[in-house]
Amino acid sequence: MSTLSFYSKAMLLRIIVQLITWHDSLAWGPIDPTLGFVSLPLNRSYYNIQKPSDVPEDRRYSFCDGIHKCWVYSTDKPHTPTSLTKPRTEIAIHGYNYSSGVWQFEGYGYVPAGTSGVCIMQVFGATSPHASTLMLRVYNGTLMYYRSVVLADEIYDKWFRVNVVHDADASKVKVYLDGYLKLEADGRGGTSHAFKCGVYAQEGDSLCMESRWRGIKVMKKCD
Ligand SMILES: *[C@@H]1O[C@H](CO)[C@@H](O)[C@H](O)[C@H]1NC(C)=O
Ligand SMILES: *[C@@H]1O[C@H](CO)[C@@H](O)[C@H](O)[C@H]1NC(C)=O
Ligand SMILES: *[C@@H]1O[C@H](CO)[C@@H](O)[C@H](O)[C@H]1NC(C)=O
Repeated sequence: MSTLSFYSKAMLLRIIVQLITWHDSLAWGPIDPTLGFVSLPLNRSYYNIQKPSDVPEDRRYSFCDGIHKCWVYSTDKPHTPTSLTKPRTEIAIHGYNYSSGVWQFEGYGYVPAGTSGVCIMQVFGATSPHASTLMLRVYNGTLMYYRSVVLADEIYDKWFRVNVVHDADASKVKVYLDGYLKLEADGRGGTSHAFKCGVYAQEGDSLCMESRWRGIKVMKKCD
């Protein structure tokens, strides 16, 4: 038992080194960001559709064959008569407002060519003057974190999986696209957060904006 030969020790060391190398190379591939999270129930009672205040919901939103479609025009009114914000059609998951814990949004997003100058997903809630902790925006086919970090080029006309992890305790956000970590950023304060996706016009908005979503999940890290 005590007498591993020099040869076996060398072999063992080689195996260990190989396992480490193997593990490191795997870490570069896509991962499953949802490991350790539980998926929470999600139906219409957990979200509402924010859309231009003067048009019926079905003129800006549809849910068909499991696909949520949100669209809005740059000439539309804000979502409430008193709001001064730009137009939006957003799925607002207010049923899961949170102030602590580690939360995750998962969804498959799709943005048709032409949609630009728009936020397609956000972690709402932050310390004033900010309103959001994270925004995923599309400018000319590029998916960006606000207007500062490019997350992916040429995203038009294809489905992509979005996983946004918000650690409200540590005030950190992470964005994964198709399982690849694309961004780690600091939170921006706030005491109440909620996930939203759809279209919310930003500076330089195109005349028409649209995003589609399927497989939307809200998850919470197990304690
Ligand atoms: C939504 O899900 C909750 C929890 O699973 C359930 O209690 C509720 O009845 C559901 N509401 C609708 C409108 O389906
Ligand atoms: C998007 O493209 C248009 C036209 O090519 C250009 O005018 C605009 O500056 C671009 N916007 C951004 C944010 O790159
Ligand atoms: C929390 O939910 C309420 C509605 O239940 C909503 O009015 C409020 O804006 C939500 N807060 C956030 C941060 O979304």
